[in-house]
Amino acid sequence: MLIPVILSGGSGTRLWPLSRELYPKQLLPLVNDATLLQETVLRLDGLAGMGKPLVVCNEHHRFMVAEQLRLIDCPAASILLEPVGRNTAPAAAVAALQAMVEGDDPLLLVLPADHVIRDAEALREEIAGGMPLAEAGRLITFGIVPDKAETGYGYIKRGASLNSGGCRQELVQDTAFEVTEFVEKPDLATAEQFLAEGGYYWNSGMFLFRASRYLEELEQFAPQILTCCRQALQQAEQDLDFVRLDAGAFAACPKDSIDYAVMEKTDTAAVISLDAGWNDVGSWSALWESGEPDADGNVLRGDVLTEDARNCYLHSSGRIVAAVGLEDLVVVETADAVLVAARDRVQNVKDIVARLKAKG
Ligand code: GDD
Ligand code: MG
Repeated sequence: MLIPVILSGGSGTRLWPLSRELYPKQLLPLVNDATLLQETVLRLDGLAGMGKPLVVCNEHHRFMVAEQLRLIDCPAASILLEPVGRNTAPAAAVAALQAMVEGDDPLLLVLPADHVIRDAEALREEIAGGMPLAEAGRLITFGIVPDKAETGYGYIKRGASLNSGGCRQELVQDTAFEVTEFVEKPDLATAEQFLAEGGYYWNSGMFLFRASRYLEELEQFAPQILTCCRQALQQAEQDLDFVRLDAGAFAACPKDSIDYAVMEKTDTAAVISLDAGWNDVGSWSALWESGEPDADGNVLRGDVLTEDARNCYLHSSGRIVAAVGLEDLVVVETADAVLVAARDRVQNVKDIVARLKAKG
């Protein structure tokens, strides 16, 4: 049995003004008519042995999450509600503990709810290919071949092939490897060195492992997270499909990511190379990069008219946006705010959000 665990806890400030605390990017239809959360589930359609997903999200988002999954006819097995975010290691831990209650040590496919993946079939193939390795006890990450020295990602150094003589003899090309090193968010000089050296992947943030294996590794490397999560789930309130984690126990849990808490430390990791048009849509420029451009290189969403505009990302949520003689800009229109930014400066949007927050 394969259970998708959807991590939908991000609040996302980098896609302001569309993404807000109460409406984070995973709940928005950013690329097509489905929201990123819905896409995350829809792209798994056709994977053999898949059970209903477990979703971990902030309690404020519970009705939107439940409704969005119901609309695509894929209701969650449970929606685990976090009173506060404690990062991904605890989120995956409560899901793994819940999966052990609901099933018999299933495989968990941990998926961020806010990524864009163009080639869903390629993703499904790599997941299916990784299942025997995960059954055998490996903690699998899906690795993306890097094309720049991005410091916001984890880097995975690939070791010996796990294809030959193992579970995946049917493959012509090696795609599964030992992990010799996992470095979460290196500094720029280190990232540049990794790129020059070669043999490194970006960590996509998607993982595949047995529920019990993840919990064993947590017990070894972050026992306090496991203790707090166990308690938060034992004392949880069940309300239909919603599992409301105990606020006190969960708030006492240390904040840490799967990457720092487990993946950097474990020696049972494996990496599967993934070439599926992955993009973590971390910014407006990433949406421009992953979108379908028109003949002038513009990516347009909503009611937008262009006259002599090139390489722009233009997004209307309601009103008509007309762009004349523009180049390399991002324009995002919403009911109460409009962003106009140089495409290579969109990372600074988070500074604007910080200023707005400070203003109250
Ligand atoms: N439920 C829940 N609770 N989900 C969370 C929480 C939380 O407290 N914090 C983050 N998430 C969700 C986010 O919504 C996102 O979908 C996913 O978990 C990953 O969290 P990010 O905060 O976006 O992580 P990151 O981008 O800094 O780094 C991770 O992703 C990179 C690729 O995009 C790491 O796994 C890196 O190694 C990786 O390269
Ligand atoms: Mg991210």
